[in-house]
Amino acid sequence: MNIETVAAAAYVVAALLFVLSLAGLSKHETSKAGNLAGVCGMTVALLATGLVAVDHGLDALDAGLLLGAVASGAVIGLGRARAVEMTGMPELIALLHSFVGAAAVLVGWNGYLHVEANGSSAELETLRDQGLLGIHSAEVFIGVFIGAVTFTGSITAFLKLSARIKSAPLVLPGKNALNVGALLAFAALTVWFVVEPRLWLLIAVTLVALALGVHLVASIGGGDMPVVVSMLNSYSGWAAAASGFLLGNDLLIITGALVGSSGAYLSYVMCKAMNRSFISVIAGGFGAVATTVGDSEAGEHTEVDAAAVADLLAEAESVIITPGYGMAVAQAQHGVAELTSRLRARGTAVRFGIHPVAGRLPGHMNVLLAEARIPYDIVLEMDEINDDFSDTDVVLVIGANDTVNPSAADDPASPIAGMPVLHVWNAKQVIVFKRSMASGYAGVQNPLFFTSNTSMLFGDAQERVADILGHLEREPGAPARRVRDAASRAPVGI
Ligand code: TAP
Repeated sequence: MNIETVAAAAYVVAALLFVLSLAGLSKHETSKAGNLAGVCGMTVALLATGLVAVDHGLDALDAGLLLGAVASGAVIGLGRARAVEMTGMPELIALLHSFVGAAAVLVGWNGYLHVEANGSSAELETLRDQGLLGIHSAEVFIGVFIGAVTFTGSITAFLKLSARIKSAPLVLPGKNALNVGALLAFAALTVWFVVEPRLWLLIAVTLVALALGVHLVASIGGGDMPVVVSMLNSYSGWAAAASGFLLGNDLLIITGALVGSSGAYLSYVMCKAMNRSFISVIAGGFGAVATTVGDSEAGEHTEVDAAAVADLLAEAESVIITPGYGMAVAQAQHGVAELTSRLRARGTAVRFGIHPVAGRLPGHMNVLLAEARIPYDIVLEMDEINDDFSDTDVVLVIGANDTVNPSAADDPASPIAGMPVLHVWNAKQVIVFKRSMASGYAGVQNPLFFTSNTSMLFGDAQERVADILGHLEREPGAPARRVRDAASRAPVGI
């Protein structure tokens, strides 16, 4: 059996492992096994690629470069993955997508320099004889275009997610015309390049695509960023598939197509869940007009202290907790678990309402609540709990903002208009835990804070929850228990 056959068989095994990995990652319970299948698939793929490289007569210098690249990539990747906070995951993912985009641009340019630009290349002669040179040129051009859009789009997403630039949408005059113009220019330049593969055409498409990537993502408002991250995931898959065609690597084509189509489907599902137009989001907010963005105050708010909240909770029969990004920042989930346990022991009905994009990555809140051992059966999805707020005595909004913003439901001019939100304002009393009157991720003011049944409990959520527990502790008959420290991983009995 020759090496090419072994490698082809190994690629099929790796592709199957990637499919198993995606299937495993679709459920919490099987996600670890899914992850492991992905790691095994990638190991098989790397070994097979190494074998093929050796078979093609890899010299010592090339082998050293290859091993050095793999080793340094592995060390940096492992270090970053171990160090990253969960709240920093979306920006890390965006950064990783940018590497895929950059790699696709480099592979495309390399293909051009080796073939079209190299008059003495044997590959050029062969492709010309077979009549396939035009196909090669199209692969180069399309790969560079998708890669460059993914590269700068992902960098822009990274800057937005890590709050290095404003999350509000950039609204340039004629922004839709700019996007459409860039796509038309790409189509025209592709035809020209296939007919006449000139260097300046490749430079032009690279620049157009780099600018389009920045513009597409900068035009999208903060509230729609979850969809953007999964959309860039999809783009990075198509960029990898384009590189696969150019390199003649079947596994890269299969893997790229898997990532591209699953990312596109995830974007579609998220758009449906957030009542957004899929086409509008992938086209950089096409047709969307941003209006009332800002965090200027919109009325008088009421402040409470932890003792008053403890009294309110002591009298409540039903409580719903709606956590958000601030709970993750404060690492308040263990205190929240203790509070839940304490209230349930007193006979209070406590449930959680989880918005699909609460936090900064899909399932963020569910993972934190599971880590604090809050029982699954009291953790409900938004649609399951949204009609119950009107029968609820107290809602604790812990570090959430955009996901409980009533203007999404009743202000058509709001940038988050139409996005489904938790109807917390229907409850008898709402307590909002946050440190200031600042707006949330979408940069939109929240009228909830100024309604008559809402009170603000200012400060770090972990500290305020601990204060409430301290006050509840002094209640006659309540068992004296201490709040666990945030770093503690020990289970909290409920
Ligand atoms: P946000 O709207 O971002 O609001 C979080 C709130 O937490 C802020 O108003 C902040 O107010 C408060 N906060 C921060 N640190 C705190 C602390 N230590 N203690 C107490 N409060 C604290 O969060 P959300 O309601 O969870 O909504 C998520 C937003 O992120 C949506 O716009 C969503 O589209 C976007 N997004 C989501 C994802 C995914 S996939 N879930 C990915 C990217 C973006 P202060 O600063 O005043 O404390």
